[in-house]
Parts: sequence; structure tokens; C-alpha cells
Amino acid sequence: MAEYTPLMLDEDVDTKRIEKRSRPRLVFCGLSITMLTVLLSLAIHIDVLFGPPVHQQTLLGAKNVETHFENVTPSPNLLQGHEIMRKNRFKFPQMVFPALFIRVSAEEPNKFYRPSSSVVLSQTDSMIYRWKTKSNWPTCYLTGWVSPRAELSAGNKSYSARGDMTAIQVWLVEATRSPNLDLSKSGVSWNTKPHRISLLGTLNFTSHADQEGRSYLDGQELKPPTPRFPCLGQTEITVELAFGDDCVGCRLQFEQVFSMPPLGFELMQLA
Ligand SMILES: *[C@@H]1O[C@H](CO)[C@@H](O)[C@H](O)[C@H]1NC(C)=O
Ligand SMILES: *[C@@H]1O[C@H](CO)[C@@H](O)[C@H](O)[C@H]1NC(C)=O
Repeated sequence: MAEYTPLMLDEDVDTKRIEKRSRPRLVFCGLSITMLTVLLSLAIHIDVLFGPPVHQQTLLGAKNVETHFENVTPSPNLLQGHEIMRKNRFKFPQMVFPALFIRVSAEEPNKFYRPSSSVVLSQTDSMIYRWKTKSNWPTCYLTGWVSPRAELSAGNKSYSARGDMTAIQVWLVEATRSPNLDLSKSGVSWNTKPHRISLLGTLNFTSHADQEGRSYLDGQELKPPTPRFPCLGQTEITVELAFGDDCVGCRLQFEQVFSMPPLGFELMQLA
């Protein structure tokens, strides 16, 4: 049974300051599930890398099958190791909630949008997202995190999606180079949105549990098209999320709220 640590605030942020600020920089901290996921996917990835090539595994004798079963038995030490890490106040990789996100719409190119919880992606709407992180890990990536439907509805969350959600584009934008650009104060319109610099990768906004069940996606965090970037220390990144031109009629809409269960676009530190 997966174990959840309740939502926690970033240890480095003064709690009093958070109460005063309207849009605090918060993080999902120490999500054990995240840690387990990352560790498991790494373990499987390493197994894939160093195990025998797939074509050699097709004809297995009973003994080999047994050996392979041993390989996939979850390590009984995993939870214990996890506990030791916790006791020693080891820094867990964190899931970081965005510092802000703002919709822009080509249909109303001069309308200025301000940060809100509403996420809308369509062929004419894209989203500017910004994350700030103080990371002990050298690499971070962006991900679409969709909790199972039952959990979402228990948490009063839902999303509506039409078309292909498996390749939402993540563009690095100019504001990343000038982090002082205060998007939250001025708001952003389609005509003033920061210029795209390069395509960082794409996101698969489908059920996270479904993705974990597919062996060909094991270790996907470590390779393209996952949008990855170096993030050791203090990092701020601003991106534009958009559908590709070939995603005809695609539309995604939901409210991204800082509460469990996670639903939305998140930054993950990679252990
Ligand atoms: C979910 O939303 C409904 C109606 O908006 C409300 O009555 C209910 O209390 C909410 N439940 C939770 C767990 O927030
Ligand atoms: C996206 O995730 C789904 C499972 O939710 C999987 O079937 C699909 O192959 C994934 N696509 C990509 C491009 O990663």
C-alpha cells in the first residue's frame, strides 16, 4: 500500500512569511510516493541497461524464469532504507508546485491575463509556467501529474481533455534569461508573452499510475522527450506549455490547486 506523507511546506521558507503572502512558493515535500517511484524507475532502468538484451530473453527455461522473478521482487530493504533516510533528515527529491502560471490566448491577443488556478490549453491557448527550486539534486524535469480518477474525485478535482494529451510541448522562453521580468504584476497577453527560445521536450498528461504500468516507459525521466535541465542550487525556469500544430481540436482544462492528490504540471527533482 502506498504511503503518503501529508503536504509539507518548503523547509527553507519561513512559515510566517507564507501566511502573509497570497501566492506562496510552496512545494510538495517529501512525498514518499515520489521517492519510491523515482527509486523504482531508476532500479528498473538500471536493470534494463545492464540486463541481457531483450531478444535473448525470449526463450527461458524454468530456472531462468525463476532467476528473473528474483530480479523483479521489490527490495525488502527499500522501505527500511527510506526510513533511515528520513531519520537522518536526508533531503528527498521534491515535487515543486509552480510559482505561477498564466494563460494567454491568441483569440484575444491584447487581453492581459494574471496568475490564477485555471489552466487552459487549446490550439489558441497556451500557458506560461514558472518554477523556482532550491535543489540538492543536479537534474530536474517537468512532468504532467495526473492522479487516478477515484483519488481526484475524492479530492474534488477533475479535468477535461479532448484529443492527444501525450505530447504537450514545453518551450523554454526568454523570461528564463531575465528572471526579474515580473509576470505576476504586469500580467501577460498573447502579444506580450515571452519569446520561445527552444523546445525543451514534451509532457505526457495521462494517468501517472498508467504510465508506471508500462515497461517501455521505465526510466523515461532520464531520456528524451522528458523536459530535463540542470538545477543544482537555486534555479528559476519559465516555460510555455502548448499543443503542437498537429494536435487538431485538442483541449485541456482544469484547476491546478496546491492540495492532494496532485493534478497538474509539476517540477520534479531527479534523484
Ligand atoms: C467538494 O465540492 C462540493 C461542492 O462544490 C462541496 O460541497 C464539498 O464539501 C467538497 N468536498 C471537499 C472534500 O472539498
Ligand atoms: C503516455 O502515457 C500513456 C499511459 O498513460 C502511454 O500509453 C503512452 O504510451 C505514453 N506516451 C508517451 C509518448 O510517452
